[in-house]
Amino acid sequence: PHPVVIDCDPGTDDAIALLLALASPELEVRLVTAVGGNVGLGRTLANARAVVGLSGRAVPVMAGADRPIMGRFAAAAYVHGEDGLGGVALPEGPPAAPGLAADAIRALLRAAVPCSVTLIGIGPATNLGLALATEPALAAQVREIVLMTGAVGEGNVTPAAEFNAWNDPEALAILLQSGCPVTLATLETTAQALCTPARVAALRAQGGGAPLRAACEIMARVPPSARLGGAGHPEHDACAVAWAVAPHLFTTRDVHAGVELAGPSRGRTNIARFRLPGPANARLLEKLDAEGFFALLGERLAALP
Ligand code: BDR
Ligand code: CA
Repeated sequence: PHPVVIDCDPGTDDAIALLLALASPELEVRLVTAVGGNVGLGRTLANARAVVGLSGRAVPVMAGADRPIMGRFAAAAYVHGEDGLGGVALPEGPPAAPGLAADAIRALLRAAVPCSVTLIGIGPATNLGLALATEPALAAQVREIVLMTGAVGEGNVTPAAEFNAWNDPEALAILLQSGCPVTLATLETTAQALCTPARVAALRAQGGGAPLRAACEIMARVPPSARLGGAGHPEHDACAVAWAVAPHLFTTRDVHAGVELAGPSRGRTNIARFRLPGPANARLLEKLDAEGFFALLGERLAALP
């Protein structure tokens, strides 16, 4: 297993992604950090603690930034509920570890061997961006940064911007320019991980313990996505984790990715798939084997006691 940091804003789909990571022997989750995003930092931190507690794994959970590096911040309670978990009450998790996310991420990278640590970002990129901006040489310790962020086409917050990119484009720009290998699960990737009532029923039928039951409960509370025709909702964040766990589920393409910082298109990711405006700086997750993805989710979550 390789060492992993998960930076998240749970968030219904973040909760599923966290459980998948914590249940997967391919990953050694060393630290979970919370950032303000889908709901405020107080809630995302409490939810991250609760999900880690639910998994039964002993992993430190730490608070990070409660706002983006610059600019405005918008929550998404209209998708995730006021509590961030669609109203599904989980038992209180372990207390937060002392310290601040960006400092802890830097310390973990400093202590690591070169090219060894995977950073998985499934919220606004503030914590990861701050960590690498303040000690850029630590990029050498990073094996890969995997982000659920951005869109090739239309956004989901503004016509131009996807939620995580829109909420901290400066932090995303820092990561895209860090020199680290970056892998992107965009809205086009995650639209393929369509969680329908039939798929939730199939997951429920697997039995499993409290984690799988809670995951199904959470999935059932997420409103269907009008953007995707109302058949279900995308399991956005678990796509990023699935790449780290089971890369054979995806096809990929080298791209050049940037992010707009100003104007009405602030937060738009510009992803060049064909004529690259320079050397590729990212890998785009293109096609997802959706059946394989949901089979993985079921198998791993059912294995948690
Ligand atoms: C992303 O935004 C959040 O609402 C989800 O948790 C996901 O990380 C999708 O645009
Ligand atoms: Ca998220």
